[in-house]
Amino acid sequence: MDYPEFASPVVSKLPEEGIITCTSPSNIALVKYWGKRPIQLPQNASISFTLDSCKTTTSLTYKKQGGIKEDFDFNLFFEGEPKPDFKPKIRSFFERIQEYLPLLNQYTFTIETSNTFPHSSGIASSASGMSALAYCLMQLEKKINPDISNSEYLQKSSFLARLGSGSACRSIEGPVTVWGEHPDINGSSDAYAIPFPFPVHQNFDEYQDTILLIDKGEKQVSSTVGHNLMYDHPFAAKRFEQATANVSKLKEILISGDLDAFIQVVESEALTLHAMMMTSLPYFILMKPNTLSVIHKIWEYRETTGSKVCFTLDAGANVHVLYPNTEKNQVLDFIINELVAYCQNGQYICDKIGLGAKIV
Ligand code: PMV
Repeated sequence: MDYPEFASPVVSKLPEEGIITCTSPSNIALVKYWGKRPIQLPQNASISFTLDSCKTTTSLTYKKQGGIKEDFDFNLFFEGEPKPDFKPKIRSFFERIQEYLPLLNQYTFTIETSNTFPHSSGIASSASGMSALAYCLMQLEKKINPDISNSEYLQKSSFLARLGSGSACRSIEGPVTVWGEHPDINGSSDAYAIPFPFPVHQNFDEYQDTILLIDKGEKQVSSTVGHNLMYDHPFAAKRFEQATANVSKLKEILISGDLDAFIQVVESEALTLHAMMMTSLPYFILMKPNTLSVIHKIWEYRETTGSKVCFTLDAGANVHVLYPNTEKNQVLDFIINELVAYCQNGQYICDKIGLGAKIV
């Protein structure tokens, strides 16, 4: 066991049956994680905004079995329908976390999950989905370990979520979280995310994120494949160094509230992420022509109005438009009048920074 601090206590009596329901949001990285080491450890530290309304709701029904099972026993429903194609991902998640949650193979589970954002919208549901499931499982563990402290509970939830999907560990708490050990961030760890441990400037209160759904098609290259292409990437070492420096810069920016500096780091990180994809072997491009059109429109709008709006990108074509709450009405008008035309079927989602996973 690599992390004995996350071992589960040995108990003689497990709860018989019940149901636990949690919600957990998606998150958007400002400094990106792209490149990992086994198992699910990041090559560099990353910082993200936790979102608020883009989230997954998961209900975990558990029923104790007579003994310990060979295999994991679970059923999976997504938006009310059985989802056999999601099962291998959950099974490998269970395999990874079994040593930290030995009760897993003593139960039959039914996992029912749904998202607030549209299915196949190009918004990754792995961060919200895996963090919601990890949080539900920790609620079950809490029943056998009621003395676990709140911070241990949150840390272990994030630790488990990471083993499901790396960036999922940043969704447990909010509004800003850091994942990956970094010399300037006390308490940071490769094994789990922590809330940003400094006061965040009020300029970021209720910071807005409007997600423009540019292309809802299946990604041609999954993030697992993309991360793996960083192993032999000619610019990998420099990129990890740059990300480390950007975490230091962003730390100061989040404290000082310098929005011009924020824009520079965040947009540079987004374009660097995609530059890494374009310079991998095999190379690939996830942006679409409309992604670039939106970026140019944002730059033009900023130039003419002095607005502090900026963009970031995930591993896909969609654009996250980030702006201060004080500019909400003007920027939303701009989005509706000038950017929605570039969205597939005119679809976009208004979100803002949020607080992480919750029990329902
Ligand atoms: O957590 P994963 O394996 O889906 O990777 C996430 C990668 C990015 O979304 C592109 C960046 C990030 O830090 O979230």
